[in-house]
Amino acid sequence: MTKKIVVLPGDGIGPEIMNEASRVLDVVNQSHKLGIEVDTHAFGGASYDIDGKPLTETALAACREADAILMGSIGGPQYDTAPRELRPERGLLRLRSELDLFSNLRPAMLFPELASASSLKSELVAGLDLMILRELTGGIYFGQPRGEETVDGKRMSFNTMVYNEDEIERIARSGFEIARSRNKRLCSVDKANVLEVSELWRAVVIEVSKDYPDIELSHMYVDNAAMQLVREPKQFDVIVTSNLFGDILSDAAAMLTGSIGMLPSASLDKNGKGLYEPVHGSAPDIAGQGVANPLATILSLSMMLRYTLKEAAAADAIDKAVSAVISGGTRCRDIASGQANETVVGTVEMGDAVIAALGNA
Ligand code: IPM
Ligand code: MG
Repeated sequence: MTKKIVVLPGDGIGPEIMNEASRVLDVVNQSHKLGIEVDTHAFGGASYDIDGKPLTETALAACREADAILMGSIGGPQYDTAPRELRPERGLLRLRSELDLFSNLRPAMLFPELASASSLKSELVAGLDLMILRELTGGIYFGQPRGEETVDGKRMSFNTMVYNEDEIERIARSGFEIARSRNKRLCSVDKANVLEVSELWRAVVIEVSKDYPDIELSHMYVDNAAMQLVREPKQFDVIVTSNLFGDILSDAAAMLTGSIGMLPSASLDKNGKGLYEPVHGSAPDIAGQGVANPLATILSLSMMLRYTLKEAAAADAIDKAVSAVISGGTRCRDIASGQANETVVGTVEMGDAVIAALGNA
């Protein structure tokens, strides 16, 4: 049976890292007889440059029909002056919203060999494996009303942080389910000491918890959660939180590993269809130099094979190949720490190394 995936390379380092992920996909597609067909579309700034908008109807329709989507990264300073509605980020937000990809899994885990790349002391992060589950299609990112006005001669802007109980319930359920498949601890992060929307969030999470008596639920205010993430990150198993808080906390969590260039993510709808992308951004400062680390995109591919396409053997093969490359000392410069056994390579060489390791598996 043919499976269709849409590839959206995007902007900045996106096309470079996606080339390597695509080469890896070609290899496993053949070796594991996956029968995957790939359809590539411009997205973000690249699409704006060609078609005047970050997400065309053609690309959106292709994403809707596909079994899964693999994305590189979007954005860049050259688009900062584009009309707000046409900026690359708006394309991504629209795609998330149109496909109802409400459940955003952002794992932060540390490859043991990379502990010294963290800005925290190795003992604080060694063995770190936490999952941030971010609500992705609601909250202040999409809340109405939003806009700008002039009031009493002064410019004023506003956004609305809003959740209804159904939106909270479905992300809470995802959180409990994920915790169940891991270490059975769920920490819900909110700002219930100040915000009404967080009071409802907390109340609904507690209601849902009645269906998950085997999961240990805790609650934490977002400011404390930010502090605890850098103080003692290993206290967490799964964190579930709203769109904006999750945006911020997931960057902090990713950096704890010292290797944001290694972290994949998934955004899923209620049927498990998903958009997969690296956690890192488009890194315009190093775009086109051939030094970007493609491993987060390659691991996003593996996550896609595992979670949406149910091709665990192919996913295992990729994960093993990446681990072998890391243990062998091959590093892109973002994860290099100057140890004697390291070889620092560029984007394409890293892709070559993963493909060679796949051949040895
Ligand atoms: C992310 C990014 C996006 C977000 C931007 C690019 C719109 O920061 O995926 O975390 O804020 O959600
Ligand atoms: Mg972000």
